[in-house]
Amino acid sequence: MLEIFWKNATSGVVGEEHGLTPSDLANAEHDVKKAYEQVISQVNSGQLGYAKLPHNNEYLTQVLDMVDRYRDTTTDMLVLGIGGSALGNIAIQAALNPVTYNMLSDRVRPGPRMFVLDNIDPCLVGDTLDMIKRRLKTTLVNVISKSGETAETASQFMIARALLRDKLGEDYASRIVATTDMDRGTLNGIARTEGYSMLPVPPDVGGRFSVLSPVGLFSAAMCGVDIKQMLAGAAAMQQRLANANFVDNPAMILAAIKYVAYKAKGKSMHVMMPYSNRLYMLADWYRQLWAESLGKQVDCEGNEVFVGPTPIKALGTTDQHSQVQLYREGPNDKLTVFLEVKKHPRDVRIPVAFADNPGLGYLAKARLSKLLAAEKTATEYAMAFSKRPTVTIRFDEITPTSIGEFFYLYEFTTSLMGALLNVNTYDQPAVELGKKATFALMGRDGYEDLAKDIKPFTRVNRRYLV
Ligand code: PA5
Repeated sequence: MLEIFWKNATSGVVGEEHGLTPSDLANAEHDVKKAYEQVISQVNSGQLGYAKLPHNNEYLTQVLDMVDRYRDTTTDMLVLGIGGSALGNIAIQAALNPVTYNMLSDRVRPGPRMFVLDNIDPCLVGDTLDMIKRRLKTTLVNVISKSGETAETASQFMIARALLRDKLGEDYASRIVATTDMDRGTLNGIARTEGYSMLPVPPDVGGRFSVLSPVGLFSAAMCGVDIKQMLAGAAAMQQRLANANFVDNPAMILAAIKYVAYKAKGKSMHVMMPYSNRLYMLADWYRQLWAESLGKQVDCEGNEVFVGPTPIKALGTTDQHSQVQLYREGPNDKLTVFLEVKKHPRDVRIPVAFADNPGLGYLAKARLSKLLAAEKTATEYAMAFSKRPTVTIRFDEITPTSIGEFFYLYEFTTSLMGALLNVNTYDQPAVELGKKATFALMGRDGYEDLAKDIKPFTRVNRRYLV
């Protein structure tokens, strides 16, 4: 079970200017409870699609059937998607399979090698495709796009499809699974015409809330992750969050701390710093969830508010040697949430050596997990010493269950934060202009006027060239 430790975010540890006082908490309780009632009524009335996912057996069956269809004939899986159509897949794979997963032999690896192309960098795409080119007959392409028209995913898909066609002829369609809207959209149309297997992106779930849908579940299950356990973890967290008692509800406490830190203590930067490489990509997933959901120009009444805490990811211990100098002595504008693991999936012991050398000898026989835990506590202490508020979320173990718990906890906390900030948590209007400008710059029909508007902007002004 996930546990949240928040003493180091209180005034008792970091002082009143930077930490929550008892009265801050009492005031926040009122607002957070109001936000909670709003969100829970949306959950209960079925308005929040993501909240239905932990119990959606239909999706689970569709995903497991698809795994049965492809697992034995697939050596390599290529996931094409971006944003909410990729970050969850990456986070699950990083958390629940070893970093060396793709290098393991076929005998040991619980599923196909997995590559998630969540960018259109020509080297990323070209190098990855070069590598799997010889195994195209046993490669499965999972193209994930709710809209079906995202330029990054569409371009990768066109490249991968052409490769498959070249190699497999008309059989190419049997090596593509399209995860998309089942009723409409460009990818939907292509998938139906060309006869791909299909999995649904739930119509009422936005990309960044879709990790527990077939978007995130299919690649995970293909790679041996127990997705039933992951959904059970999410369901257990949902049950825990049904407790309307403020102090017993981890999402309410987390939202209260984050909200007070943001609104009253000048903490506009919200860092997530896992002390675990396995959990690092969860911080990437969180960044998108927090940024796209909460960074908004207008509130629900249309007033300009320009709100949103900036999410930042960091990694312990690596970033102790990179970021912590700033976190301790730079502007006191950050709330840091550490992710800590009680029992790592494995451990490594430091051998006995250099017994007479006081600079190294003390490390002999220690487990790396002990050193990692000590470094985390040391950083927490050092941050508190500089009056920098921190919170710790502790994972007993990294399992599908705890990862499922984490996903749901953060989705719900994001909903609470959105309600507290009085913004639309589920739209992302500011992403649209960049998407449209790309269409215009790439010559898509219907975007000629925008292309004209952009033209002066693209002209090089030599005065500003060095
Ligand atoms: O969270 C979101 O809505 C976005 O990040 C989308 O997931 C991303 O833009 C990809 O969109 P699509 O799945 O339509 O290709």
